[in-house]
Amino acid sequence: MADEPLVLGIETSCDETGVGIVRGTTLLADAVASSVNDHARFGGVVPEIASRAHLEAMVPTIQRALDTAGVKASDLDGIAVTAGPGLAGALLVGVSAAKAYAWALDKPLYGVNHLASHICVDQLEHGRLPEPTMALLVSGGHSSLLLSGDITSDVRPLGATIDDAAGEAFDKVARVLGLGFPGGPVVDRMAREGDGKAIAFPRGLNNAGDPAYDFSFSGLKTAVARWVEAKRRAGEPVPVADVAASFQEAVTDVLTRKAVRACKDNDVDHLMIGGGVAANSRLREMAQQRCDKAGIVLRVPRPGLCTDNGAMVAALGAEMVWRDRTPSSFDLSADSSLPVTETHVPHTDFHAHAHEALK
Ligand code: KG4
Ligand code: ZN
Repeated sequence: MADEPLVLGIETSCDETGVGIVRGTTLLADAVASSVNDHARFGGVVPEIASRAHLEAMVPTIQRALDTAGVKASDLDGIAVTAGPGLAGALLVGVSAAKAYAWALDKPLYGVNHLASHICVDQLEHGRLPEPTMALLVSGGHSSLLLSGDITSDVRPLGATIDDAAGEAFDKVARVLGLGFPGGPVVDRMAREGDGKAIAFPRGLNNAGDPAYDFSFSGLKTAVARWVEAKRRAGEPVPVADVAASFQEAVTDVLTRKAVRACKDNDVDHLMIGGGVAANSRLREMAQQRCDKAGIVLRVPRPGLCTDNGAMVAALGAEMVWRDRTPSSFDLSADSSLPVTETHVPHTDFHAHAHEALK
């Protein structure tokens, strides 16, 4: 529909330079340049390398997105950008680029929350999100259960990891098994050859009295490392596929159990799963089984939209325009620890605040 907002979104919170263009809930372009290979030899994302890669990739990626969408920059109704949370230097590159384009093109600027964007992206695939929707966000940087109403203004945290993120646990276990970085996709692949019941790895925060919606993956990671170490010390071969499958089973069991419980406790009948770990095949399978059993509708975007990308930022930006939300001001800054409840960073009347403060 031509009257739906045409929005370009920029994502640079970690190692993906993402530029997406959407019209309302329709995806027109999703250009991503990743620096993941530059980080592989360090076993994790190096912030300085990520920032420099964003800087180099920014203009060509924006151009690629415009070409793919077949739209002119002057036709855009707004420019959205991830204002946080994420790596400070990496975020700054995206925020500066968004400001420059918005200023030069005289378009409204929307600084938006990375986590709300991970939820909103599902609209590009499955249509408007019901209100409320429960969201399980699982990636290298976050593992949270969020209850979302109006996605532009109402995201409430129910629980989060108290130590490692789920994706971080996949990355660390992959390192212990010598499978490389990032660990998620390769553990997922190896696990298909193994038996998820072979080794009984611990499920974190799963006892009566434990916080119902919080997660903990650090104990599981240590248990896997100890188990593998014991095998090696005994001079026995490590059954890599069984370890991968059993570890993956422990993570997905806890994630899906808690997500379904959160839906039931809060009377929510739609669950969406987003973030890089949502690409995991066993997580998708187990979530589907448990949701079917509980009468919950499961929505999981395709893997390319689950990992960090610009389309998710554009999707939330379009929603901001659609719902007439106040744009951000040009003094918008990146906030590496932007709270999840701040779905966007609206215009703040700096002078009014300063005036109040001086009274
Ligand atoms: O959302 P994302 O691209 O970036 C962050 O915001 O962190 O997520 C990346 C994380 C990495 O930890 C990666 O190992 C994990 O998502 N991941 C997976 C799979 N694909 C990516 N974890 C499990 N199974 C997968 N298939
Ligand atoms: Zn992310």
